[in-house]
Amino acid sequence: DWLVIEERKRVLLANPRGYCAGVDRAVLTVEEALKLYGAPIYVRKQIVHNKHVVATLERRGAIFVEENDEVPEGATVIFSAHGVAPEVHDQAKARRLKAIDATCPLVTKVHQEAKRFAADDYDILLIGHEGHEEVVGTAGEAPAHIQLVDGPEGADKVTVRDPAKVVWLSQTTLSVDETLETVDRLKQRLPLLQSPPSDDICYATQNRQQVVKQIAPDCDVLLVVGSRNSSNSVRLVEVALDAGARASYLVDYANEIDDAWLAGATTVGVTSGASVPEDLVSELLDHLVERGFEDVSEVTTVDERLAFSLPQELKRDMKAAA
Ligand code: F3S
Repeated sequence: DWLVIEERKRVLLANPRGYCAGVDRAVLTVEEALKLYGAPIYVRKQIVHNKHVVATLERRGAIFVEENDEVPEGATVIFSAHGVAPEVHDQAKARRLKAIDATCPLVTKVHQEAKRFAADDYDILLIGHEGHEEVVGTAGEAPAHIQLVDGPEGADKVTVRDPAKVVWLSQTTLSVDETLETVDRLKQRLPLLQSPPSDDICYATQNRQQVVKQIAPDCDVLLVVGSRNSSNSVRLVEVALDAGARASYLVDYANEIDDAWLAGATTVGVTSGASVPEDLVSELLDHLVERGFEDVSEVTTVDERLAFSLPQELKRDMKAAA
């Protein structure tokens, strides 16, 4: 008789995953503002790019709008974690809105770099995804100096005034490897291209990609919890496939998993984007347990401890109310 040893079905759970410090702060900003000022609170754009987070805050009294002119004069508006161009602050002032800025401090850092290099009259090559809110906000700091470079192909279209006075900056949530490729390609044409003074791709993006790279080669399928419009979540699927996962899918909720994806799989990887609450990962793990994937091991590459304090303007009001 043949001895059949069935391989144990298992889950490799990536750590770090889920909420980063900037998302945690932005979501908490809306929650605290609702408590302090009462509903409704207006939020310009999705506070973070996650369907579930937005729906939950809407139920509690947040009203999401696209632009300031949808906010009644004098009302409170929160700007999302992705950052805004200076003109958005100006519009808010003109409408006498009480603005609370939940821009991630690591995005603000890139805005500062853009302002500084523009003041020194550099040409700035901003690597990022066309139309993404963060890129729109950063470019708005110095529109006359900034050109968007969307991926390695975008590198060939760049034209600069002085090749000795060019710097690249980037969106915070890009693929680390693809960005290096884009920079290499830019440097072939612009050997004097300067790099940002410190990493623009944030720690959370880098850490989530790093652990996915580590587990991907062992995964038959790697599931990423996250929304379609979440840049860092979509990158995780790409990184997983590049690093050798046989398949990888992005889902907002466990019930979007097609059983066919799991057919024949013995190792399933699980991670989540920086805007994803842990509850959604727990639900996904429960879903996998029901399908025989009971053996869960967490793979940890780094211990994240960064936390950001709430926006000044909110902290001031909270103190005054206490
Ligand atoms: Fe900030 Fe990075 Fe999160 S830029 S919002 S820490 S993904």
